[in-house]
Amino acid sequence: MGSILEELFLGDLVEVDRVPMLVTYKLLLDTKDRRMSIREVKAKDGSIELMKGVFWDYDKMPNMLISGGIGGGKTYFIYTLIKVFMEIGTVKIADPKRSDLGVLAELPAFKGHVVMEKEEIFRLLEDSLEMMIKRYKYMREHENYTMGKNYAFYKMPPYVVIVDEWAAFFTTLDYKETERVLKVLMPLILQGRQAGVYMIIALQRPDAQNLPNGLRDNLLAKASLGRLSELGYKMTYGVRPYGPVMIVC
Ligand SMILES: Nc1ncnc2c1ncn2[C@@H]1O[C@H](COP(=O)(O)OP(=O)(O)O)[C@@H](O)[C@H]1O
Ligand SMILES: [Mg+2]
Repeated sequence: MGSILEELFLGDLVEVDRVPMLVTYKLLLDTKDRRMSIREVKAKDGSIELMKGVFWDYDKMPNMLISGGIGGGKTYFIYTLIKVFMEIGTVKIADPKRSDLGVLAELPAFKGHVVMEKEEIFRLLEDSLEMMIKRYKYMREHENYTMGKNYAFYKMPPYVVIVDEWAAFFTTLDYKETERVLKVLMPLILQGRQAGVYMIIALQRPDAQNLPNGLRDNLLAKASLGRLSELGYKMTYGVRPYGPVMIVC
């Protein structure tokens, strides 16, 4: 029903609520009026307003999966996230296809923050895990250590790792390399939140084989850009949407 309603009302399905005998479909109709320019998008108190009224509470829903076909707008959306997180923290970028984000490597502000080679991407992920471990140690040993508080309490900025075209990287790995990546990616995605270390992964269609061992489901925020196939929607959001769902057009 969701996609039929989307076409009928020219809106975006943002939520499906099911209780016995009643299914409620929530559609965002005025998506054009809700658009924001990249200049307006800002982070505030662990949250980013992506469209008017549509928020990504990255401290509560850490890590993002971005899906969408070629030309859907994934990379442009990533530019916005880069801009927002650079204003408040550190951003590391991997562009395994050496395409649109790779050009940022030329800019002084991005020196040492953009990688494209396979080995460099391995090292970026490993260094990020090390950063996460260091942050946990710092928090534990802090004189004001308080249980349950996150990185912001200890005045640490977010540390965001963005990988565009994830499948272009992951599908080229052999068995050993896959092991090497999963060994760091699992703890990064499962434990990064409290330390403020976040992963943002973009790919065209999030097959489970590209994000195995439940990694896909642990990228808690989902954003799809442009039109996805029915299968693409299912892969991104699950058969039944669970938790808040964001569809950005
Ligand atoms: N938010 C946007 N505003 C304006 N144009 C956009 C936006 N997002 C994408 N585009 C246009 O669509 C094209 C494809 O977007 P891109 O982000 O490269 O797609 P993808 O990375 O999904 O293949 C861009 O070159 C740009 O012209
Ligand atoms: Mg792209």
